[in-house]
Amino acid sequence: MLVLGIESSAHTFGAGVVEAGKVLSNKKAMYEIGTSGMIPKKVAEHHILNANEVIASALSGAGVSVADIEGIAYTKGPGIGSCLQIGQLAAKTLAKKLGIPIVPVNHGIGHIEIARIMANLADPVALYVSGGNSQILKIDAHGKAHYRVLGETFDIGIGNMLDNFARAAGLNPAWGSSVERQAQGGSYISMPYTVKGMDFSFTGILTHAQRQLKLHTKRDVCFSLQETSFSMLCEATERALLLTRSDEICVCGGVAQNSRLKEMLAIVAKDHGARIGYAANEFNADNGAMIAFVGERMLSRGIKASLSKCTIEQRYRIDSAEVVR
Ligand code: FE2
Repeated sequence: MLVLGIESSAHTFGAGVVEAGKVLSNKKAMYEIGTSGMIPKKVAEHHILNANEVIASALSGAGVSVADIEGIAYTKGPGIGSCLQIGQLAAKTLAKKLGIPIVPVNHGIGHIEIARIMANLADPVALYVSGGNSQILKIDAHGKAHYRVLGETFDIGIGNMLDNFARAAGLNPAWGSSVERQAQGGSYISMPYTVKGMDFSFTGILTHAQRQLKLHTKRDVCFSLQETSFSMLCEATERALLLTRSDEICVCGGVAQNSRLKEMLAIVAKDHGARIGYAANEFNADNGAMIAFVGERMLSRGIKASLSKCTIEQRYRIDSAEVVR
């Protein structure tokens, strides 16, 4: 089934085309974050201005025309309301015009499932780390399959923490990727470490790291911030691995693009004879292909929604959404 997926939950407007589980195209336009962070109204305006072009580019990249599309999937949530609405509107308009089925998709399930399949993992412990979300999950297959949240952040997502720090440190662009670049060759300075069971917290380390900028080099603070916060994720993931007796770790979401995080998780996996898997970076960043990917599975099993039921939900929890495999 040829499915167009639309993602617009945060800074990225993405569109991807998938057929038979194969990604045919994956295009996006990303809001430039600048020094003031994400202003919801401005990000939504960005999505409005770029939606048509990104969708057209996804279709031409896949070598298909709009009339060839057999189903539409869009991100229902979680995300920023005004941004989610743009993708929802584009998806509903196209579905109505073409008279084809449409299905809302949970953003987090998109991240995990595309990484799981691309990494050829069966039933992993998933570490889902992005700007807005940081969770450790595993499928709970009693009755309908749902991801059960084993651990999560008490406050902000690790990606949000890294982005906030990047802004405070004057890094350009103000993303976590700049923290990773800056951390190369740094030396360790002490940072607060907060793990409770399989939950963690990032506001304390953010405040501390910002203060350390006055006392230490940016390189040392970036290095120590990454080493400490990633160690927190590794400890909680290791605990989840042991608790669930799983032998697979799937890391996904925007922060899964970080090489050092994957390197540290690989050490945890090796210690326990487990396998670690992840998608290529293009599919860890927010993207339309992951939404099309999950949407195709749902639509091909007859799961669809009427236009009036195609809503958005800013706090759409991953554990409330059924996983269709
Ligand atoms: Fe995301």
